[in-house]
Amino acid sequence: MLTVKDQLTNQFIAPHERDQMVPCLSAARQMLDHHTCPGSEFTGWLDLPVSMRESTIEQIEETAERIRRETDVLIVVGIGGSYLGARAVIEALSHHFSSLLSDEKRKHPLILFAGHQISPDYLHDLLDIVKGKRIALNVISKSGTTTEPAIAFRILRHRLFGDLRPEELADRVIVTTDEKRGALRAFAADNGLTTFVIPDDIGGRYSVLTPVGLLPIAVAGVDIRALLAGASSEREHSAAPLSEGWAASDLYAVNRMLLLKKGYAAEILASYEPSMRYFAEWWKQLFGESEGKDGKGLITMSVDYTTDLHSLGQLIQEGPRAFFETVIDFQSVCHDLRIPHDESDLDQLEYLAGRPMSFVSRQAMNGTALAHVAGGVPNMRIEIESRSAYHLGELIYFFERACALSGIMNGVNPFDQPGVEAYKRNMFALLGKPGYENLRDELVAVSGDE
Ligand code: PA5
Repeated sequence: MLTVKDQLTNQFIAPHERDQMVPCLSAARQMLDHHTCPGSEFTGWLDLPVSMRESTIEQIEETAERIRRETDVLIVVGIGGSYLGARAVIEALSHHFSSLLSDEKRKHPLILFAGHQISPDYLHDLLDIVKGKRIALNVISKSGTTTEPAIAFRILRHRLFGDLRPEELADRVIVTTDEKRGALRAFAADNGLTTFVIPDDIGGRYSVLTPVGLLPIAVAGVDIRALLAGASSEREHSAAPLSEGWAASDLYAVNRMLLLKKGYAAEILASYEPSMRYFAEWWKQLFGESEGKDGKGLITMSVDYTTDLHSLGQLIQEGPRAFFETVIDFQSVCHDLRIPHDESDLDQLEYLAGRPMSFVSRQAMNGTALAHVAGGVPNMRIEIESRSAYHLGELIYFFERACALSGIMNGVNPFDQPGVEAYKRNMFALLGKPGYENLRDELVAVSGDE
């Protein structure tokens, strides 16, 4: 079971401060669980691990199986909430050098991502690498009109499948979008494509356990039933009455709020497993987009340890005292290695001979946390058993719930993202999209660029 260890916040948070948060936490839980909080129309993710229909899971598994059988490469096209969850789970659970493995050894299609930026060089290189391969595209967009994936989808479709007959296209393109609305829904209907639904009551950054994440994740060979089972178990634990004790997500959310009130501006998510890098990217969006509004919220940052101890370690240890740290701590590794004896001992490592690398990593984690606390950086640890589908499911649900509770306690709507529109409006105006002429004139006057 996932737990939050917060002994290393004791010198920063007094027990009575936590106790005094009970009414606020209790109110937030009630609003969330009774779907009465701001943005409650987007709380479908709360029950998702148990409410997802068996037929949907089967359809995802069957489609994934077909893609695995018939293709060498799956290109997943999407951005933000329609991208990060799938990538987070796939990278967390795949071989570190998956893209370099032979098709035979990898046992599933190579999974590549597109539409998460507007770099022509990236798309050019992607087209280059997939030449001669059997390709499938999974285009994911709730609105169907988000510029980045729409451009990538149009270019990839034309370049890869321009010559295909409609029935051949139907074998290659899978659309994940809104049930009724949107440009992609119409495109899928016109072309007879396989489609998956992004539920109306689930926003992008909470959608990893819908077909948005589950289809690409299943293609990558991850057991999606185990992922959902882990999420379901965490759902059960976290919704138990407060009178039975605080759930891990309660403790984490309250500690974050208390530290924010004390003036800590940023939270750093740390992991000692490099495959968790995209999980941290997913976490940054989840918390950043949910809480960062109305002039409030914690700034979300992430680090890969011990790599970043040799780049950002100095700043974290002695720079401005503006952040606290949350460490993802896997209790076991998948494949341990022992440090061999070497009589010459030129590297002065003989005192560690025979020790597993995981032991060294654990002591690095302990030593770093203690050093950072001594340097004024509060430290929390999220303990999970292993880097497996089940436990990642637990972790996903834990973060989603803690994020919603934090946002509600901090007085924001954790399920909207009005600020994301600002850059889009300017971009449309500067691109000359019809309807944005006045804004274009204003922007040109400000920037001086034509
Ligand atoms: O979390 C969100 O809502 C956003 O990150 C969206 O997922 C992102 O902007 C992509 O939107 P869409 O799925 O409509 O293409």
